[in-house]
Amino acid sequence: MILFEFKLISLLFLIIASTNGFEEYKGYKIYEIIPSSVTQSNILYKISLKNEEIDMLTLTKLPNVPARALVPPKHQQKFENDLISNGITFRLINSNVSNSIFYNNFHNFFKRATRQHILEDYYRYNEINSFLKDLAERFPERVSVKKVGDSYEGRAINAITITNGKNSLTSKNVIFIDAGIHAREWIAPSTALYIIYQLVEKFDENKHLLENYDWIVIPLVNVDGYEYTHKSQRFWRKTRKPSSAICYGTDGNRNFDFHWGEQGASSLPCQETFKGEKAFSEPETQIVRDILLSLTGRGKMYLTLHSYGNLLLYPWGYTSALPENWKDLDEVCKAGSNAIKLSTGTNYRVGSSTNVLYAAAGGSDDYALGVAKIPIAVTMELPSGGSGFDPKPSQIRKMVTEAWIGIKAMAEKVIEKY
Ligand code: ARG
Ligand code: ZN
Repeated sequence: MILFEFKLISLLFLIIASTNGFEEYKGYKIYEIIPSSVTQSNILYKISLKNEEIDMLTLTKLPNVPARALVPPKHQQKFENDLISNGITFRLINSNVSNSIFYNNFHNFFKRATRQHILEDYYRYNEINSFLKDLAERFPERVSVKKVGDSYEGRAINAITITNGKNSLTSKNVIFIDAGIHAREWIAPSTALYIIYQLVEKFDENKHLLENYDWIVIPLVNVDGYEYTHKSQRFWRKTRKPSSAICYGTDGNRNFDFHWGEQGASSLPCQETFKGEKAFSEPETQIVRDILLSLTGRGKMYLTLHSYGNLLLYPWGYTSALPENWKDLDEVCKAGSNAIKLSTGTNYRVGSSTNVLYAAAGGSDDYALGVAKIPIAVTMELPSGGSGFDPKPSQIRKMVTEAWIGIKAMAEKVIEKY
């Protein structure tokens, strides 16, 4: 009896623990806004800049592409009025954000006990590490896992190097991939794990990708932020180092030292796109920087995984001008989007990030091309689900396997070109 009660109490405790974080979003709403022209997108962008508490979950310059905004209760009326007075169409897609976070957490909690594969559910930080460690143990001749640094809160950040076991690690070209610079974009680390799975477990199918190239993958960069989205605030984007007396975090993708802070990055520590107190103020971005710089010459492709938007973006992010080699970038990205279109019918748009989204300086892609001289630097914005950042676990398989088809096609194009 005592044992039974103990079990019941611990179960209740676990259920409560699994659902924490939802109360942070009490009364928040998510709006879908459809700007019908570039002018309307610009107005929407300005509305969001005016109010630092409006979180644009996604926004492009392209007319008729739905944008989304997460808006706290006290700003909802004004936000709606601003849209109405500018004639911009919108609808409410989630009128109770805390409820849906509660249900998602609840569901994930029960799913967690039964999952066996990266395609079934989102892995936590520790599970990602075990996944890497297990591969390194089972395939020592082709896989090595190394800690490349520590996060602000002291978690190890790991990189996996995958080779074909022959004359590697010194002279071969390299494809470098990272994911999870932004904490809430959970489908990105899932995709990185699937890339690793394909290259290692499905080596026979993919060995042509490892003939003259080694691959380095950091499946989770912003480890602190990621754990925070699981434990407290689902929509957290930034790192977790305090930025001021009251606000935490820097936008990792505004923190790289190439035209740092010139465009589309905030100087205010409380904002989602805070550029940091200086370039590379964050240990997490320093880690990515050091790998990029170590690859100058050998590094031919850098792919950074984000969500969401179904986009394959290339530099520049700091200006609407195009890089000298934009035709190569465009060719590689189109190889990816065409392969995806052919296989599943899903559309990925291709273009320079300033021209498709908005100018935003300090991104890792710009740094890879502009400073580390990695010729093909791509930001992949994976698909949306739920609020945008939480595709249901049952949707992971489709999104991630389809992304792999595109990534593989891009890698094949790079290997053919360089
Ligand atoms: N949504 C991504 C971000 O805001 C896009 C980054 C594109 N690259 C860039 N350098 N702006 O970080
Ligand atoms: Zn992102």
